[in-house]
Order: sequence, then structure tokens, then C-alpha cells
Amino acid sequence: MSFPQHRPRRLRTTAAIRRLVAEHRLAPSELILPVFIREDLSEPNPITSMPGVVQHTTASLLAAAREAVELGLGGIMIFGIPAVRDAQGSAGLDPLGVLNKAIRDVREEVGDDLVVMSDLCLDEFTDHGHCGVLNEAGDVDNDATLDIYAKMGVAQAAAGAHVVAPSGMMDGQVAVIRDALDEAGYTDVAVLAYAAKYASAFYGPFREAVDSQLHGDRRSYQMDSGNRREALHEVELDLAEGADIVMVKPAMSYLDILADVAAISPVPVAAYQISGEYAMIEAAAANGWINRRAAIEESVLSIKRAGATMILTYWAAELAGWLREN
Ligand code: PBG
Repeated sequence: MSFPQHRPRRLRTTAAIRRLVAEHRLAPSELILPVFIREDLSEPNPITSMPGVVQHTTASLLAAAREAVELGLGGIMIFGIPAVRDAQGSAGLDPLGVLNKAIRDVREEVGDDLVVMSDLCLDEFTDHGHCGVLNEAGDVDNDATLDIYAKMGVAQAAAGAHVVAPSGMMDGQVAVIRDALDEAGYTDVAVLAYAAKYASAFYGPFREAVDSQLHGDRRSYQMDSGNRREALHEVELDLAEGADIVMVKPAMSYLDILADVAAISPVPVAAYQISGEYAMIEAAAANGWINRRAAIEESVLSIKRAGATMILTYWAAELAGWLREN
């Protein structure tokens, strides 16, 4: 094919024509705000490596949830930081534990006006910081962890989560959680599966955000960054186990994976713009090295363009505010 007469620049001459031919645009309804609630906190606590993000008190969390509704955000993803941790991560099962209580409080505040999602993982609750319990050799014990995940899922559903989001990358986690939810009567609670979650250096700031106790790494359960085909296998397994939504994480360094998954997934695809992606842009902008707003908009739009149906981003509220201006 040849188009000797065609000048692509014709369709770039004015803002109005660029808007007309735009292939992708963002909407507040596809943004999900990740939030951290910390037990026994009297004031919101800033996270140094994520300027602008805090560990919430109950009051500040509820204010953030209300704002999310006003902005028309799609959802909120709640992470809990307990005051006391143990080897089994028991605080994650406690109906009055920090996360389950926060789910209940947020649900009471927003009702069904916002999709309330909860992180279903043990790393915030264990004193060793791993996403599962350990066996005698000190390795993460997949199947012993599954039993706990199943109970955690039911506890979160009982607290009012619309969606539970297993992020621990244990094999078989979606199936046991789905079964447990159904058995307990929570057939309408959805599972958002962290299907292709890679062992990433870009989770660094998150570890500060949740006061992570981890020494070492998660390479025995999260994916190796060199692997592409394996991501589709992980997604297929989660679909077969009953995942309602599948996630790729991180986003920026894995847009090829996201595009692959979007091409085959029969269910909605989520992508998580993680703490390190946030921190890099904030740090460069604070130094005056990049235009903050333009970089944020471009980074999130690229995730949409790669195929995400929904995007978790710490900029969800600010970005939604900008989208309303447009
Ligand atoms: C594990 C979990 C992690 C993140 C979300 N859920 C950390 C990890 O796997 O080490 C990272 C999110 C981010 O970096 O923004 N529960």
C-alpha cells in the first residue's frame, strides 16, 4: 500500500482535531486508588519515598473514600498495616483486624457507590514479611498458605469487600478463594487475580508504605522479569480457577505483557502502576527534570493504550480531577 497524497500532520493541526482522532483517553471510572490504613495511628503518616501518599487513620481513609466517590473513581484498593505481626499473619483473619475493620468502615461510608477492593495477602501481616507462611526449611509453603487465604477471603467478604484481590502468587489461590467464598454464600464477591505479578525492584517504596519486615526477596513465588509466555499461562490458570478480573503488575516495565494479556483475556484486565513508578516520576518532577502533570498523564495513558480495562494508580484522585477539567 502506498498513500502518496497522505499527510498525517493534517489530523494534528488543532487541539480539537487531535481530540477528534484520539484513539485512547482516560476516564475516572477506570481508575482505582490504592490506600494504606495503619492501626494505632493518630495522624496520617507521610510515606517518605512516595511524596503525597500517606498511611491513613480511619478518619483520613474515610475522607479519601468520600472524595473518590465525588470524583467518580472506579474503586479503592485497601491495604492494612497491623500493629502486631506474627508468623502466621493472624491479624489478617481477625474480623476486627485493621484491614477487615477498614473494609467495613469504607463500605459503610460509600455503600455501593464505589467498588471496594481489598488486598488478600499475608505480607503485611507476617513478622517475616513473606506473602505466605513458612515451612520448617524457611520456604514459603504454598498449600498451607492457601488455607489461610481462603479464610482471609471469607473474612474480607464478610467485612463487605465487593472484590478481593489475591496478590501473593501462590499456585491455586484463586480456586481455593472462589470455593471458600461460594461455600460461605458470597457468590457475588468477585476475585481480582494478580495473575502475572513479577518480582520487581520497583516495589521498593511500597515496602516502606507497609513497614515491610521482609529480608530477602519474593523470587520463589513472583515471576521472573525475563518471562513473557509464562504470563499467559498464569492468566489461563487463574481464568480456569474462576478469576473475574486478571491483573498485570507492575505496569510500566511490563506493557508488552499487558498487551499480550489484553489480546487473549475474556475478562477485564487490570494493571497496577506501582510505588516505584510513582516515586520515579515524583522525584524527577521535584527536581524540575520533567513536567509532572504531563508525565503522569502520559504514563497512565500508555497503560490504557497497552490494553488495560482498569488501572490502579496512586494518582487516581488527582488525575480524575484533571480529567474533569478537560
Ligand atoms: C503484596 C503486594 C505488593 C504490592 C502490592 N501488593 C508488594 C510486593 O509484592 O512486594 C506492591 C504495590 C506497589 O509497589 O505499589 N501484598
